[in-house]
Order: sequence, then structure tokens, then C-alpha cells
Amino acid sequence: MSGFAYYNGEFYPLDGLSIPITNRAFYFGDAVYEVFLGVGEAVYQCEEHISRLFSNLRKLSIPLLYNKEEITALISHTMKKSGIGESLVYLQVSRCAKERRHSALNTAHDLLITVSPYSLKPSEERISLITHDDLRYYYCDIKTVNLLPSVIASTEAEKAKADEAVLHRGDTVTECAHSNIAILKGNRLLTHPANNLILPGITRKNLLKACVKERVPFEERPFTVSEMMEADEIIVTSTTRAGRLVGKIDGKSVGGRATDCGESLCKILYEQFAQFKQQNLTL
Ligand code: PDD
Repeated sequence: MSGFAYYNGEFYPLDGLSIPITNRAFYFGDAVYEVFLGVGEAVYQCEEHISRLFSNLRKLSIPLLYNKEEITALISHTMKKSGIGESLVYLQVSRCAKERRHSALNTAHDLLITVSPYSLKPSEERISLITHDDLRYYYCDIKTVNLLPSVIASTEAEKAKADEAVLHRGDTVTECAHSNIAILKGNRLLTHPANNLILPGITRKNLLKACVKERVPFEERPFTVSEMMEADEIIVTSTTRAGRLVGKIDGKSVGGRATDCGESLCKILYEQFAQFKQQNLTL
């Protein structure tokens, strides 16, 4: 595995890093994380990701002995030391304790940052989804490493040779296993409200801003599986993919009825990153 890592004050090649069992992410999934795109020493949409990280740390009372500026500087320093030009940066803050006990009181912070090569490429190829029951709990707004339901759904998607799994609670579509989802219907964009049933994606927010730019009215309201199957377009968003249109769900052709609008919105999401990359590659 190529890549570079920072762990609690030391730097390592990624495959030379071992993490002690006192890290509570192992026993309890007691950790929050962020995934960023990096170019050189610069993190794409750093402020948004760091704000979400600090909000999650507060929600779980996970101690972190750095402020926003210090953690940002540490991420940049790790990226610089990695020597990797375009990267995917993973940051995980967990707690550690001397023994295994459920209560999280009197624990210390435990910080991991990894940097791996990754290049976000533009793509007009439509992706495919499977539908899957959303069997997660009610803390989906917190980006924690408790990802077993997402792992199960993503594995089912891969078995079906699909790219992602779209999750539904009963008939209501929430989000995907590791992305957000929106539909276009009659030139209006719909996406699940940012409550405790979905992760408030940074790219989802960018999509809503792109709607303002393109004068596409949007509504943050739940939609059903059948509304999705009959939608004019379906858009999946995440840091690692930006925005992608969906061509198939459970093997059935979907969308394709508002291609110009869908493609323009996805293009804005990619172009925004491309601009950032341009600025930071030339530094
Ligand atoms: N996944 N919803 C879920 C459940 C996610 O795990 C993600 C991100 C998103 C999109 O959020 P953002 O636009 O901020 O990346 C929505 C990351 C990329 C991951 O776990 O690898």
C-alpha cells in the first residue's frame, strides 16, 4: 500500500504503521474521520471539512488537543512530507484508554492522518446503483467509523457490479452508502434534508450552490424510491467522485431526461476542484 502517515506525533510509510489496541476505534468504533482531496500541501475545501470535523468532535466530546489552525497546519505538513502531488487525505480522531471499558470518560486523543495518491478525474460516464435497506442507526450526521451497514451495502453493490448502493428507510431514500443523492424532477432538484438520517456532505452543499448558480430551484425534502426511479436525473455526490449522473438502478435504466441540466451541475462541481488544482499545482 503506497502512502504516508502521521500517527500521534510520528511519521511513517503507510505500510510501516501499526496502531496500538488502546485506540478505541478498534473496540468501539469510537472515532470520527474526514476524507479530503489534496493537491501539494493544500486541502480542497479545508475549512468546510475542518468545521464538520470539529462539530463531530464536539457532538461526541472527543478531545483533540489542537485548534482548527493547528490541525490544518499539521495536515499540510504531513502532505508536504509525503511528497505526493495529488492525494486523498484521511484523518481519524479517536480516543485511547488503558483498558477496554465502554465509558469514554477520562480518555486521551489519538490522531491518525494518512496521505495516499489519488487523482479526481472528470467523467461523463453514468454510474450504476443498487437499492438497499438503510439499516443504520440515528447518528448518520456524525462521520464516525461505525460503517458496518455501509460496508454491507457497498459489498452487495460490488457483487452486483454496481458502483454504489442507494439506501432507503422504508420507502424514503436517505443517501448512498458513501455518498449523498439528489434527483431532478421537472427542473427542480430534491435531496433529503440534512438531519440525523444523512451525512451533511460537503459536495451536497456544493451541489445546492451550483443549483443557485444555474437557477435550478431546489428543495431539501425526502423523496421516495419510486420518485427516484421515475426522476428526470439522479445525481450522486461525494468528495471522491464530485458529482455523477446515474444511468442504472437495480439493472433498470433511469434518468436521462434532463441530461443538459444534470451535466451542467456535475460540471460545476468538477470545475471548482479543477480550478483549485490549477492554482495549487502552479505554486
Ligand atoms: N464518504 N454520505 C456518506 C454516508 C458518506 O460516507 C459520504 C462521504 C458522503 C459525501 O460527503 P462529502 O461530500 O463530504 O464527501 C455522504 C467519504 C468520501 C468516505 O467515507 O470515503
